[in-house]
Amino acid sequence: MTTATTSLPGPAASLPGGGSMPLLGLGTWQSEGDDAYRSVLHALEVGYRHVDTATGYGNEDQVGRALAESGVPREEVFVTTKLPPDDAGRAREVLSRSLDLLGLDFVDLWLVHWPPSGGASPQTWEQLLAARADGQARDVGVSNYSTAQVDELVAATGEAPAVDQVPWAPALHDQQFLDACAERGVVVEGYSPFKKTDMDDPVLAEVARAHGVTPQQVVLRWHLEHGVVVIPKSVTPERIEANADVFGFTLSADEVRRVDGLAG
Ligand SMILES: NC(=O)c1ccc[n+]([C@@H]2O[C@H](COP(=O)([O-])OP(=O)(O)OC[C@H]3O[C@@H](n4cnc5c(N)ncnc54)[C@H](OP(=O)(O)O)[C@@H]3O)[C@@H](O)[C@H]2O)c1
Repeated sequence: MTTATTSLPGPAASLPGGGSMPLLGLGTWQSEGDDAYRSVLHALEVGYRHVDTATGYGNEDQVGRALAESGVPREEVFVTTKLPPDDAGRAREVLSRSLDLLGLDFVDLWLVHWPPSGGASPQTWEQLLAARADGQARDVGVSNYSTAQVDELVAATGEAPAVDQVPWAPALHDQQFLDACAERGVVVEGYSPFKKTDMDDPVLAEVARAHGVTPQQVVLRWHLEHGVVVIPKSVTPERIEANADVFGFTLSADEVRRVDGLAG
């Protein structure tokens, strides 16, 4: 279920642990040092309430600094971090370190960043479920998992991931995957919306022109029309603002179909 609004933080997906995950968040991969701090702070100042980081990004301390200095109440911000697959054997230790760096008692979402050694790894998933039971993560999920790997976790534990974070963009549109996730109660979170898109595509240009927006804003809006969470990364203040300015227009069913058609 999603809730709709016309401004930031925008619509949100309800997660099984009780969390409300804004469909638009700020990505932070390759945001380093002060850039990470400044981008997260700026995003929070202009109304973002969802930040995506990972142990592997090496910036949880800067994200934590921005969260603290923003003055935004903890319960209003949705924070995700991720467990590196190589650390699957010491998952809880890694989460404790993430919480220290972020300056938080719990994260809203903790993900297995990639299938450990390429496999679903129910043992790792059990560690995430234990962290959730202990209150260190409100919801838990996975990233870069196939539907078959999600099913393996469900078969082993009876618990589906709340979220699967996967590469997503018009060129990667896969309705079968969206339907399979919906059937399993898994929220799809897309990453690299811009890097995986040809911004010169004429369909995007035409739809953008029709709404007086940019092709980037069309791509983000297209995610929202599908109920897919999207976390564009930027360290540039004007882009952080533009990427959040996607609640004042909607795409028609025909426009959504045309953008879907960019998948090869
Ligand atoms: N789970 C995973 O395995 C995984 C993998 C990759 C990414 N992610 C997550 O997803 C987030 C987003 O993906 P991403 O960082 O790979 O790529 P992205 O968000 O598709 O693209 C980021 C790039 O686009 C530029 N950009 C941002 N807004 C723009 C705009 N309005 N116009 C033009 N250029 C713009 C940024 O530049 P500036 O920063 O210079 O403005 C940056 O170079 C990551 O930051 C990370 O949090 C997860």
